[in-house]
Amino acid sequence: MNVRIDDRLLKNDSEVRRVGVAISVDHVSRAFDINGRPLAVLHDISLDITAGEFVVIVGASGCGKSTLLRLIAGLDMPNAGAVFVGGSKVVGPGLDRGIVFQDHRLLPWLTAEENVAAALIARGVPKAERLDVARRYLALVGLTGFETAYPSQLSGGMAQRAAIGRALANDPDVLLLDEPLGALDALTRLKLQNEIVRLSAKNPKTIVLVTHDIEEAVFFADRIVVMDAKPGRIRRIIPVDLPRPRDRSSPGFVALRSAVLDEFIDETH
Ligand SMILES: Nc1ncnc2c1ncn2[C@@H]1O[C@H](COP(=O)(O)OP(=O)(O)O)[C@@H](O)[C@H]1O
Ligand SMILES: [Mg+2]
Repeated sequence: MNVRIDDRLLKNDSEVRRVGVAISVDHVSRAFDINGRPLAVLHDISLDITAGEFVVIVGASGCGKSTLLRLIAGLDMPNAGAVFVGGSKVVGPGLDRGIVFQDHRLLPWLTAEENVAAALIARGVPKAERLDVARRYLALVGLTGFETAYPSQLSGGMAQRAAIGRALANDPDVLLLDEPLGALDALTRLKLQNEIVRLSAKNPKTIVLVTHDIEEAVFFADRIVVMDAKPGRIRRIIPVDLPRPRDRSSPGFVALRSAVLDEFIDETH
């Protein structure tokens, strides 16, 4: 699993590209000014993510997980280092990356299908086709029958489905998920976890997901990236070689879940 196809480093003026690497976080640091003083949030993060890989980032609240995801999304820029997606240096958001946050961020004055259709404008989908394409993506995320519902008429889980459908609608290579299920009740979360596994099997993407739910991390990940705080840095990367679909009650799953949990309980690292 996750065997790097080719590790040659190809360099020119503005590019670093490793064949088979979808995302390269290259010695990235980020600090914010707090009352005129710099607060180091991320320190010297380097991480290569293979095309098609599902990477899950876990770490204590405030350790910089969202900041790292925003840097990959191009919603923020590093103070040092660079992020490369598909071989190109990230200089801003792009259609090659879809992002979903903990809150759905759907526009409340648009229906579910209009929300997804609005995202298609950026891809240049002709107006006449947008609603059709939007409905296809809503069907993909299990929202058939709710196309014309407004966000306020959807449950939390349904609204997150719509947000995932919207992120997928531009067919990005990379899907960035920042605690997308964090605000949902336990049963809805389980259901959507299964749904995300189904979607990623049907329509493979490179996925980076942030969570503080250890079970969710073991359920999804090819690799779990454990972060340390103050400043945020990578403590450990744990490969997850469990067969898929994953059985949460299998001995291998349970053992790995408790091993990852120990990473958090044992703060002497
Ligand atoms: N735009 C910003 N300005 C100032 N501080 C920020 C900004 N964004 C994040 N931070 C700070 O960076 C730290 C990490 O935040 P964040 O990446 O959201 O952590 P996490 O997602 O792991 O909980 C926090 O201390 C937060 O207050
Ligand atoms: Mg966060």
